[in-house]
Amino acid sequence: MEKLVSGWSTSRTTLPESYIFPLETRPGELHFGPDGNSNIPVIDLDEDHNHDQTSIIQQIIKAGQEYGIFQVVNHGVSEELMDETMKVTKEFHEMPDIDKARECSKDPKMRCRLYTSSENYSTEQLHYWRDALVHPCHPLEEHMQFWPENPTQYREIVGKYTEEVRKLASKILELISQGLRVKPGYFSGELSENPIVLVNHYPACPEPGLALGIAKHCDPSVITILLQGDVPGLQLCKDGKWVVVPPLSHAFVVNIGYVLQVMSNGKLKGAEHRVVTNSSVARTTTSLFIYPSNDSIIKPETTLTDACNPPLYRAVQYKDFRSYYISNAADAEKVHEFMDRHT
Ligand code: OGA
Ligand code: NI
Repeated sequence: MEKLVSGWSTSRTTLPESYIFPLETRPGELHFGPDGNSNIPVIDLDEDHNHDQTSIIQQIIKAGQEYGIFQVVNHGVSEELMDETMKVTKEFHEMPDIDKARECSKDPKMRCRLYTSSENYSTEQLHYWRDALVHPCHPLEEHMQFWPENPTQYREIVGKYTEEVRKLASKILELISQGLRVKPGYFSGELSENPIVLVNHYPACPEPGLALGIAKHCDPSVITILLQGDVPGLQLCKDGKWVVVPPLSHAFVVNIGYVLQVMSNGKLKGAEHRVVTNSSVARTTTSLFIYPSNDSIIKPETTLTDACNPPLYRAVQYKDFRSYYISNAADAEKVHEFMDRHT
């Protein structure tokens, strides 16, 4: 495996050439303070606080239309479990490279794996300032046996965490299905059959203005639920400008993915986002991606299209979409072209 950034970065005061992005895509001077104009919606999922369910649904749909991203509070996942998950995932990435590699080589199908930069390390021209641990999480009994056994509490804590966050994802998807007026349970079958955990780690970076943790992309998921902790780094591209998604204690960031954009025929927007680094602290995040099964067909839901709203996207098997997405490094324009009904 390529050398993990966390293994060599601490001794550097400048970036290797292959991590320096060109002027157009590098972040440049970074301001993490509250910029006052991001206004990314924060939605309280507790009906007792927030009027009633209809109002929560409206807020989610509006956020999905205008931003493609929002944060949720009073979401039902225990704060203690969120803290423990943050702690154990940080501990994982703090282990020596050799131990991390060993902990991620138990799965004969290599679905639990560790990589650096991106899945295209060997072919990409420039590298990203991140290491990633990825593994499936459902059904738990089937996959947990291949997860890291060190740190010793990893399986227990991340197992509990993913079960809780999966429930939260189902709840949010159920609210979205009501908001879109599609049938109840629309997302609960094959469209959410393949949830994946991704633990990203972005070490402190000597020249954060020149590097990227992850380039601009839209997740290839239905939705993604992100625990970002208290270190900023996630940015949303809103009306052509980058805005910080501010860390909010014990909130989750919810991202609309490209699959939901297609399914809703563009009514909900997949959020275009990226990750930047900073020079003082490492940042560790845990995402749960709700992915469809490989064989499912993704397409605009027929009840959401008619003569005035013709389908914008064609029907594609998820595995074909996914391999196109990965091999084109998530390039939004190419993905649009691939999905465009007229091509
Ligand atoms: C991703 C992603 C955000 C983050 O992994 O797709 O956007 O803050 N991660 O780590
Ligand atoms: Ni993403």
